[in-house]
Amino acid sequence: MSSTSHAPKIAEVRQDIDRLKSSARTADQLMEGITRLLHEKMLKYNWVGFYLLEHADDSPMLVLGHFQGAMTPHTRIPLNQGICGAAASSGRTVVVDDVSSDSRYLACSLETKSEIVVPVFAHGKVAGELDIDSHFPAAFGNEDRELVEYCAELVGQRLEQK
Ligand code: SME
Repeated sequence: MSSTSHAPKIAEVRQDIDRLKSSARTADQLMEGITRLLHEKMLKYNWVGFYLLEHADDSPMLVLGHFQGAMTPHTRIPLNQGICGAAASSGRTVVVDDVSSDSRYLACSLETKSEIVVPVFAHGKVAGELDIDSHFPAAFGNEDRELVEYCAELVGQRLEQK
């Protein structure tokens, strides 16, 4: 594997994602397929999952949806907690190269070293997010960010069709 760029791999995975986009009949199938594909093909993506924003009792909550990897204790995350809460409340992608130096981090696995969380927008509002953890420090560069943001955008588009 190239030590500098994994652009060819990313291009291949993006093609797989586009095929999945055509074959998935629902947003749910698309999210399930994206978690499976990214987890299987991107070797440093050790935990891949979606959280969906729910508004029970007027307090918004990120609720775990489809995921691949070890079970996490964080199945429900309020917007003022964690890197997940930070991404959802700001509506911005958050990339953390070293989770041990980020006080917002909610630990899922002792092996996790870096994390990316990308909000999913539907009808202009945050509807959820795509969260990926890696056992490797600084695993998410610009190419990864673009790929993960692309996946989140496809899910947002599909949620809008509901
Ligand atoms: N690390 C996240 C919690 C979710 S787990 O990574 C699956 C956070 O800090 O919000």
